[in-house]
Amino acid sequence: MRSAGSSLPDFPWDSLAEVKAVAHAHPGGVVDLSVGTPVDPVPAAIRDALASVSDIPGYPQTHGTPELREAAVGALRRRHGVEGLERDAVLPTIGSKELVAWLPRLLGLGPGDTVVIPELAYPTYEVGALLAGAQVLRADSLLALGPQRPALIWLNSPSNPTGRVLGVEHLRKVVEWARERGVVVVSDECYLALGWESEPVSVLHPSVHGGDLTGLLAVHSLSKSANLASYRAGFVTGDPALVAELLAVRKHAGMIVPRPVQEAMTVALADDEALATQRERYARRRAVLQKALQDNGFRIDHSEAGLYLWATRDEDAWVTVRRLAERGILVAPGTFYGPRGNRHVRVALTATDERVEAAAERLAE
Ligand SMILES: Cc1ncc(COP(=O)(O)O)c(C=O)c1O
Repeated sequence: MRSAGSSLPDFPWDSLAEVKAVAHAHPGGVVDLSVGTPVDPVPAAIRDALASVSDIPGYPQTHGTPELREAAVGALRRRHGVEGLERDAVLPTIGSKELVAWLPRLLGLGPGDTVVIPELAYPTYEVGALLAGAQVLRADSLLALGPQRPALIWLNSPSNPTGRVLGVEHLRKVVEWARERGVVVVSDECYLALGWESEPVSVLHPSVHGGDLTGLLAVHSLSKSANLASYRAGFVTGDPALVAELLAVRKHAGMIVPRPVQEAMTVALADDEALATQRERYARRRAVLQKALQDNGFRIDHSEAGLYLWATRDEDAWVTVRRLAERGILVAPGTFYGPRGNRHVRVALTATDERVEAAAERLAE
């Protein structure tokens, strides 16, 4: 029997082991900017919410509590101008990575289907297509697709790794093109709240779809916006029919967000102040790292939003990764995200202020 894993690429982070050891050997300790893992506290109100329902012995609902779904609809309306979303068209997920990895399978895609992913992309889009036995096509434009009719198109704005934002016009064109061909468009919006030099727009914004949600899904995560990566908290929403399909399969498969996490999510989605505080932290760190990189031989491309700086010295990505590791700074080579990333590195904003200052000092040495 062929294992599912045998069709998957090597786990990219494993190849960082050697440079990781070099960075960790720095006398001042490592500054790890290679993974976008939050380092700031989980807000007290969220921890209280988690604890407040720790004595519920029964199974939780796969669909999430009505309060959680309502909170998600409210957050998208207040924070991102999304109107017309049905409460029942919200489905909590165990973080968004599992949904990304299983979505093509959950929607019934298989051999013969094509999944379009960005040229430079979060690796799990490819993994999800391969787990379903579908084909992967990397493309950033509809022109590049030619006459093909894929089953599903992934969008990711702001992008991991480049920080690029897709404008309303671009989103609208993709949605129109997909709608004419019955193609599902899924927008991974886990960095939507982190716009710096441009304002990211949800695929569910009325200016994009003109009031018709058919064939559209948006994937959201609370990992970065509310420091809840360890809780595993996300949701998917959009076309009520597609969400109902996902709910039906996930009920059978036991893909349920734990009840205490549902409560924590409900509180987090209502707390715009905590989100603003977190944004300020990332904005400060971004300014320090951006200046330090630009002052010391790097060019930064895109990066107008999101949690990363997409930086280059116009040399091979691994040369840059090694050079930085020798200064105790760990970053990810752009090749983790696609062949076109071979001359960039991805620098995450997720380190403490103290570590970010240390990185800036070392870059200037
Ligand atoms: C683009 C993108 N999508 C999804 C995820 C998954 O996030 P989580 O599973 O924590 O919600 C990440 C995590 O870094 C990401 O960068």
